[in-house]
Amino acid sequence: MNIDWKNLPFGYCKTKFNVRSWFKNGQWGPLEVSESEDITMHMASTCLHYGQEAFEGMKAFTGKDGKIRIFRWDENCKRLQNSARGILMEPVPDAIFKEAVTKVVQLNREFVPPYGFGSSFYLRPLLIGVGPNIGVQPAKEYLFMVFGTPVGPYFREGFNPVSIQIARDYDRAAPLGTGTYKVGGNYAASLLALKRGKEEHFGSVLFLDAREKKYIDECGPANFFGIKDNTYITPKSTSILASITNKSLMTLAEDMGMKVERRLVPVEELETFEEVGACGTAAVITPIGKIVDRDSNHEYHYCKDGKPGPWITKLYQTLTGIQFGEVEDIHHWNLLVE
Ligand code: PLP
Ligand code: COI
Repeated sequence: MNIDWKNLPFGYCKTKFNVRSWFKNGQWGPLEVSESEDITMHMASTCLHYGQEAFEGMKAFTGKDGKIRIFRWDENCKRLQNSARGILMEPVPDAIFKEAVTKVVQLNREFVPPYGFGSSFYLRPLLIGVGPNIGVQPAKEYLFMVFGTPVGPYFREGFNPVSIQIARDYDRAAPLGTGTYKVGGNYAASLLALKRGKEEHFGSVLFLDAREKKYIDECGPANFFGIKDNTYITPKSTSILASITNKSLMTLAEDMGMKVERRLVPVEELETFEEVGACGTAAVITPIGKIVDRDSNHEYHYCKDGKPGPWITKLYQTLTGIQFGEVEDIHHWNLLVE
């Protein structure tokens, strides 16, 4: 095995083991360990036809002390249960989820990036409806699985400013749709906008609220936040995913003495922010240097000296410090893996 820990992309890399549990006849079966990268399922499975699937994204880190920590597994577990309920799937019990993510880390220790490279082990829990079905209705059987892969930063720029495009001609999710659930359909809906954004040399796309196109929703596969007057401001919306990174940053911002506001954020407010960023498990905290409104060509500029601002830098250092065991985990967010 020869992994370049320092230059890992955010991509798939084969590891040794994944784990699976099947829900059949009204109950979850024991966790099975598998070396296969394939899933065998019925061709009429609801996940294939009707998008009955949900997933999670979470990370494990090797700390300064050499110990491996999984960040806020309980929040990801709760969110997967919420996504499951949102599209009528069988929620995965806490104990199975915890055992699965822990086991995948333990069984693939050699793929967990060592401390000091800024890389981490990305865990991908997946829940899908399986079995023979053809009517539009929930499946009777489900497969829950978790695999992992070593990753570097999602945005090529790492902790350096990215450019973002406002795409008004696409919606990611409807106001009363499935945007608050982490289900595949939302990501399918975002592909065209993201592809065009990349072709036009942007790191990602800022989606606005679908009903009025007046308020900021989120930033591709990451939440959006802005900072001004010692206040951390992040959109409240019925069509965005409740980011666990964002939730953590709100707590850290308060710890640092900032005010925190979760509310509607009108597009024009972009003019007034001192710092803006995107945050998520994959995106970590990505400072935004420029936002361009594709319709009007209006540009908003931040990080004028080319560097991330002071608050974003402090938030980044504290969050990653907790994850890498360098900063005391006062909120008990880490699960130590033995
Ligand atoms: N928003 C979307 C659409 C996402 O896919 C993600 C990634 O999980 C996030 C936000 C960030 O959420 P989290 O911080 O829990 O990873
Ligand atoms: C994550 O941040 O974990 C995500 O799920 C983003 C992913 C869709 C790339």
